[in-house]
Amino acid sequence: MNKDEWWSGAVIYQIYPRSIMDSNNDGIGDLQGIISKLDYFAELGIDAIWISPFFKSPMKDFGYDVSDHRKVDDMFGTLADFDLLVDRAHALGLKVIIDQVLSHTSDQHAWFQESRMDRTNPKADWYVWADPSADGTPPNNWLAIFGGSAWEWEPRRKQYYMHNFLTSQPDLNFHNPDVPKQMLAEVEFWLKRKVDGFRLDAINFCYHSTCLKNNPVKPEETRKGLGFSVDNPYAFQYHKYDNTQPENFKFLESIRALMNRYPGRLALGEVSSEESIKTMTDYTAGNNRLHMTYSFELLVDTFTVDYIRQTVEALESELDGGLPCWSIGNHDVVRVLSRWGGDNPPDHLAKMLAALLCSLRGSVCWYQGDELGLTEADILPEQIQDPYGITFWPTFKGRDGCRTPMPWTNGDKAGFTETTPWLPVPDEHHAKSVAFQADDPQSILNNFKLFLKWRKQHSALLYGTIDFEDVGENILAIVRCHENEKIFACFNLSPEIAQGNIPEKYSVSSLDGFGHSGAKLEGQHILLQSYGVFFGTIT
Ligand code: BGC
Repeated sequence: MNKDEWWSGAVIYQIYPRSIMDSNNDGIGDLQGIISKLDYFAELGIDAIWISPFFKSPMKDFGYDVSDHRKVDDMFGTLADFDLLVDRAHALGLKVIIDQVLSHTSDQHAWFQESRMDRTNPKADWYVWADPSADGTPPNNWLAIFGGSAWEWEPRRKQYYMHNFLTSQPDLNFHNPDVPKQMLAEVEFWLKRKVDGFRLDAINFCYHSTCLKNNPVKPEETRKGLGFSVDNPYAFQYHKYDNTQPENFKFLESIRALMNRYPGRLALGEVSSEESIKTMTDYTAGNNRLHMTYSFELLVDTFTVDYIRQTVEALESELDGGLPCWSIGNHDVVRVLSRWGGDNPPDHLAKMLAALLCSLRGSVCWYQGDELGLTEADILPEQIQDPYGITFWPTFKGRDGCRTPMPWTNGDKAGFTETTPWLPVPDEHHAKSVAFQADDPQSILNNFKLFLKWRKQHSALLYGTIDFEDVGENILAIVRCHENEKIFACFNLSPEIAQGNIPEKYSVSSLDGFGHSGAKLEGQHILLQSYGVFFGTIT
């Protein structure tokens, strides 16, 4: 692993700007709000912040529908605010990553407004347009993740346009060479503003197959929901033709060629495909595509030793030069503590999850508030904001439950705003606020800080190779080695006591100082309390 790149072993903290801190009391977070909390992020011991979209947008998908890639939305502030944010973050030693939504735009984008007018305008071929079938229905069976057909009728052109997400998020036509060229120019605009990297949204959705064939039916027993629910009809198809097309490689290579002109900048792609592990491998293969990718493989409900081990091993055995990036929580899925811990998750589960995630090889995307042990908020039907949730309610409530405001204090509006916040702060989050946890040395928050600080002193955890071992039921056991340091780590994934034996070939002694308790090593025998953690050094 190339430890010269700043992202090797880095912890990237995801900021969802609407919900981080409101500086102007409109109930929505903003860039000045982020600036006011930079000290907090730096003190966590993270390496970088990734800020979800803050660009000009009608906010139908809360910023993932961009109407001008080069402007900051008024709601979030100005370009001057952004430049200040980058300077201040850099002064604190933090890297700044921003989202780039390249595969689609908002329908309010000037390009789409022009494209939709007729079939001959200069932007006519910038989006994916297709004639109707003979019976007037859409050209094929492709579906949108957020519900319904992936095709929407445009009366002016008497054609359908394609959208993988909302109808207000038309897909750009990357087969037109002007489109990838333009998108690279949008990316370069931000490279010149000194950002340290990009999280490339839905990067495998840039190209569709121009054959426009129907996607094949997926048998019920093989349907899985990675990034979408199995009840969503989107899961009923193999997405053979509507995403992850081979033409994308060339685009990824041109992104990398651009990034190479700005040393030290990271390209981190979000991948959600039929075979995400393969796509992650392909997208980071060689030294000329993306630096890293992450997928939804650990953003699922399954929380077992076998699943985590098999997933990590599968990627590790496939990767051809690229680095993994792992994520267990983000703005698209149920809060990890509730997803993996049920209704009343204990604090020590939150502590264990931080240690586990940050012990995997590669880098980590950490979602705001997970360091406080926030649980999923229960949003009443009339409070739902997410259009995805509005469409699929009541079987799927959408993504608002993980997007509620960050609780800074345990006061009325959680120190986030002085007005009504755009989503409510759930009562149970008050006792998890930053202020509430700050003075308690045992708190989830202080444990997180202590662990990240301790981890930085162990190069094996930052840059080491990774292997898994069998130790005992419910115990995930990892060996990390770098130069002279060898670490043996165990995580009890169950609420019960777990016991097992460290393989004879290892002579292990306990390491202290990482803030966890709940493990006892006697000879090769290890006992872990509920969700306990053990770190040892291999001598
Ligand atoms: C983002 C989502 C967004 C979608 C469409 C993603 O994968 O993480 O929040 O709705 O792309 O842009």
